[in-house]
Amino acid sequence: MADNKRPESMERITTPELAQQFIDEQIKALQEQIGDGKVLLALSGGVDSSVVAAMLIKAVGKQLTCVHVNHGLLRKGEPEQVIEVFRNQMNANLVYVDATDRFLDKLAGVTDPEQKRKVIGGEFIRVFEEEARKLDDIRFLAQGTIYPDILESGVVKAHHNVGGLPEDLTFELVEPIKFLFKDEVRVVGKELGLPDGMVYRQPFPGPGLGVRCPGAITRDRLEAVRESDAILREEFAKNGLEGKVWQYFTVVPDFKSTGVRDDKRSFEWPVIIRAVNTRDAMTATVEDVPFALLQHITARITSEVPGVNRVLYDLTPKPTGTIEYE
Ligand code: XMP
Repeated sequence: MADNKRPESMERITTPELAQQFIDEQIKALQEQIGDGKVLLALSGGVDSSVVAAMLIKAVGKQLTCVHVNHGLLRKGEPEQVIEVFRNQMNANLVYVDATDRFLDKLAGVTDPEQKRKVIGGEFIRVFEEEARKLDDIRFLAQGTIYPDILESGVVKAHHNVGGLPEDLTFELVEPIKFLFKDEVRVVGKELGLPDGMVYRQPFPGPGLGVRCPGAITRDRLEAVRESDAILREEFAKNGLEGKVWQYFTVVPDFKSTGVRDDKRSFEWPVIIRAVNTRDAMTATVEDVPFALLQHITARITSEVPGVNRVLYDLTPKPTGTIEYE
C-alpha cells in the first residue's frame, strides 16, 4: 500500500534538530486530522506508545485519553512510572486499569506458550474494549506502530496494534510514528522530554514477564521473576551495563532443587540470568558479564528473592536458544 511506504524523501532522524522538526510537522498534521475529536490510546509505557502519547498531548491535550492496562506481567515500577510521567508530569487524561487478578485468573493452569500468548492478547483486548465503551464520542484510535511493524507484519510478530476490537467499535487510526525506525523514535522521545528510562528501554515482549515464567504462571513464581529482574536491572545500571547490553532479564523455570538455608534443607526455584547482544534479534550472542558481578547478583538474588536458592547464567547464543524462553 502506497501510504504504508516510507517516503523516499524522508530524512533519517538522527539529531535533536531533525527530531524537533518532525515533532512540529506531526503536531500540525495531528491537529488537522483530529480537529476537535477525541482520541484513545493504549499506553503500555514502552517507548513507541509513550512517544505517541507525548506527541498527542502536545497536539490535542485533553482530547486524548490514554488507557494503561496493568496485566500483572509488567516489570517492577512500570505502572508507577507511567502514572508519574503521564498523569502527574504531563497532565494527561490517564485511565489506569489494574487488571492483574483478571489476567492471572485466566492464566491459571495454562501451560502452552502459544495459548498463554492468546489468553494475554485476548484479555487485553477485552479490558481495552470495556474501557473504550465507558468513554463517549471517541473517533480516533492512536497506535505506536513503527516502520518495522509494517515491514514485518505477516512475517514476524507485529505486536503493536489493538487489532481484534469488535466491529461495532470502529475508529479512525492515528499513527504518527509509523514511518520511523526504533532509533529515530528514541531521538524523538528524548526531544519530547521523556525520561531516559523510557526512551532507552530495552525491548520488552507484549506478554511481559509471562514468557519468563515458563509453564503455568503462579503468583509466587511470577513475583520471583519480577524481583530478580529488578535486582538484575539495578546491578546492570550501577555497573555501566545498562546502555551496553541489548537485552537482559531473568527467568524462573518451573522446577525446584535442593539447597541449604539457615542450616536447613531448602527446596526452591533457580533463577536463570540471560544477557544478550544482537542487531536484529534474529541471532544473538551472550554478553561476557564480569564473573564478580555475576557472583554479586547471585548473592543478592538468593538472599532477597523469596523461594530462590540458586542462580544460573545462560551461555547459549541464538541459535540454538531463542532470546526468550517461550
Ligand atoms: P526470540 O525469543 O524470538 O525474541 O529470540 C526476539 C525478540 O523479540 C522479543 N519477543 C517478543 N516481543 N511479543 C513481543 O512484543 C512477543 O510475544 C515476543 N516474543 C519475543 C524478545 O524479547 C526479543 O527481543
